[in-house]
Amino acid sequence: MAKHSLLSGFGGYLPDRVVTNAELAAQLDTSDEWIRTRTGITRRHLAGPNDTAASMGAQAGRRAMEYAGLTPDDIDAVLLATATPDQAFPATAVRVQAELGIKHAFAFDIAAACSGFIYALATADAFVRAGQARNVLVIGSEVYSRILDWSDRGTCVLFGDGAGAVVLSASDADDGRGILSTHLHSDGTLGDLLYVDGAVGQPEKSGHLRMSGRDVFRHAVSKLSSSVDEALQAHGLSYEDVDWLVPHQANIRIIEGVGKKLRLPPERVVVTVDRHANTSAASVPLALDEAVRDGRIRKGDLVLMEALGGGLTWGSALARL
Ligand code: COA
Repeated sequence: MAKHSLLSGFGGYLPDRVVTNAELAAQLDTSDEWIRTRTGITRRHLAGPNDTAASMGAQAGRRAMEYAGLTPDDIDAVLLATATPDQAFPATAVRVQAELGIKHAFAFDIAAACSGFIYALATADAFVRAGQARNVLVIGSEVYSRILDWSDRGTCVLFGDGAGAVVLSASDADDGRGILSTHLHSDGTLGDLLYVDGAVGQPEKSGHLRMSGRDVFRHAVSKLSSSVDEALQAHGLSYEDVDWLVPHQANIRIIEGVGKKLRLPPERVVVTVDRHANTSAASVPLALDEAVRDGRIRKGDLVLMEALGGGLTWGSALARL
């Protein structure tokens, strides 16, 4: 049996500070009712002055290693997805590596906005299948509060901060468990629908997130639906075979749209957007961590993950836990 990768550890971290819709409505021309009905969001966690993508990623990564029963010496690679790195370089992944005392590994960041975790998972899976790594720490960590335009009510109410992580471990067991496949896509002609205007290469610009919400919404439902179809068709599986959908947590209406397409009852869809808002690359591993730890997702369950983000980038991953 060829090597494949098993999801062996799960971890999450959310900063302490919780900000409700009502608190935002006190400073902005918006309301709890508007935010809840358009997005499903009721509150979000926002980073404190000492929280960064590296510090939060390290907390989530430590918890995932502990869950897997591994020590820092067991980890061969650290892949970290983020659009809000601590520095242009070194990569946030190497800061996490140092913080966790992981000595015998290579580490790098992946930039694919809200799809970053799916991209990182696909990359880690390829390293494991190629025999280049036995245990890979895969992290999504974001502090979007630092790139939001807090005067733009159309975007700032949608996002939160946090980090999520998994460990992928090589297995040659013939038990059907592990990552079955990943499916990645991007379309650079749609780059202006969701972007940050400026960065270290363009310091004269503001560095704030900009979005054409309606266009992103339209692309999200159609592209995520085709992406989940693609994952199932690759294995001759049908909607009924899926135990859990763990979607990117951008908007409850997008999540429900894809869930309906899969004909999955809502209780088979993991939802955190109501409490976390959109934590970009952290959202899928945070949702996964929550549902594994509270006992909803169990060993042997077929889990379909999907995400879409700036790029546009999108993709899916199918795994049997
Ligand atoms: N509070 C109150 N009103 C708001 C508001 C807010 N926070 N944000 C926007 N509005 C207003 C707009 O100004 C507009 O007013 P107008 O008609 O007087 O011009 C009205 O609400 C409708 O705006 P629109 O942007 O068309 O709303 P929408 O129904 O498309 O909902 C989103 C907006 C952002 C919730 C929705 O487009 C969406 O979820 N898009 C996907 C975003 C996303 O998930 N991005 C991340 C992907 S990774």
